[in-house]
Amino acid sequence: MNSFKDKVVLVTGGNRNTGLWLVKKFVDEGARVFACGSSEKSAASGVEALKRMGVEGVTMMACDISDLEQVKKMFDVIEREAGRLDILINNSANQGLGHGGPLEMDPQKFHEVFNVNVIGGFQVTQMACNRFFLSEKQQAKREGAGVGADKGVVVFLSSNTAMRAIRGRTAYCSSKGAINSMVRSLALDLAPLGIRVNCCAPGYINTERWDVLDPKIAARRRANCPLGREATGTDIANVVAFLASEDSGNMTGEIVTCDAGCSCQHMPADVDR
Ligand SMILES: NC(=O)c1ccc[n+]([C@@H]2O[C@H](COP(=O)([O-])OP(=O)(O)OC[C@H]3O[C@@H](n4cnc5c(N)ncnc54)[C@H](OP(=O)(O)O)[C@@H]3O)[C@@H](O)[C@H]2O)c1
Repeated sequence: MNSFKDKVVLVTGGNRNTGLWLVKKFVDEGARVFACGSSEKSAASGVEALKRMGVEGVTMMACDISDLEQVKKMFDVIEREAGRLDILINNSANQGLGHGGPLEMDPQKFHEVFNVNVIGGFQVTQMACNRFFLSEKQQAKREGAGVGADKGVVVFLSSNTAMRAIRGRTAYCSSKGAINSMVRSLALDLAPLGIRVNCCAPGYINTERWDVLDPKIAARRRANCPLGREATGTDIANVVAFLASEDSGNMTGEIVTCDAGCSCQHMPADVDR
């Protein structure tokens, strides 16, 4: 398939776990893909991981998205190598793990999570719009594009925990709720400019963290899912690709949940009898 042929895509946090599958999906569908990890070391390991998956031709950068100067430098690379950007996938996340409960956590940790998940996502989006989606250079190349053709597309990754909280993750859950609100707000303001902003809200995704999970907990988690399984990276990549594609051309400001039905159930099957 070549749904994204001639498109230039940036995937933040494309260096590990779900991000790798997002990168693979866009590469498989013909896009020129840029991605980042938060450091030189994690970006380098992302290059190796993609190689093992047989994915080639990706420019992997080191960029802490909470640092505006680093974000500027990342966009300089995209400018130099591709001269344009069509699609932004805001996937990077600080998971806010190990902070403890709300009574004992260091409030500074709350800032750190918001600086990546909310402010980081915002400043990458703002720069994508100003430097590329709405730039005169990019617009000049769009002449002849059909009615309703996107000037730019943004897809955020939030979480079903924005709606139904998990324990000991106050900062993370709050940040994902903030992302959902930001998506609606950005969608409203950017719609008249031809930019769509949508969001995929995953539930459990199988990442490297599942490799070290107690098998009993993994089984209990799966039993909590009406579909009986967590998402694969490909499951999430398929939803994100739909939101990034012209197939969702009349959608903006939407939060699309992909959580094996967890959000529609009151209680898991073993207690709902
Ligand atoms: N896994 C799940 O079950 C689940 C459930 C619901 C929602 N989600 C959401 O889905 C997305 C992908 O999840 P995941 O579990 O694959 O994520 P993950 O394993 O936690 O990976 C997070 C990614 O974000 C990057 N990142 C962290 N801080 C950054 C910073 N300051 N600047 C730039 N990048 C930074 C990491 O890069 P480094 O390698 O450099 O740290 C990494 O690539 C996330 O938005 C997550 O919140 C996941």
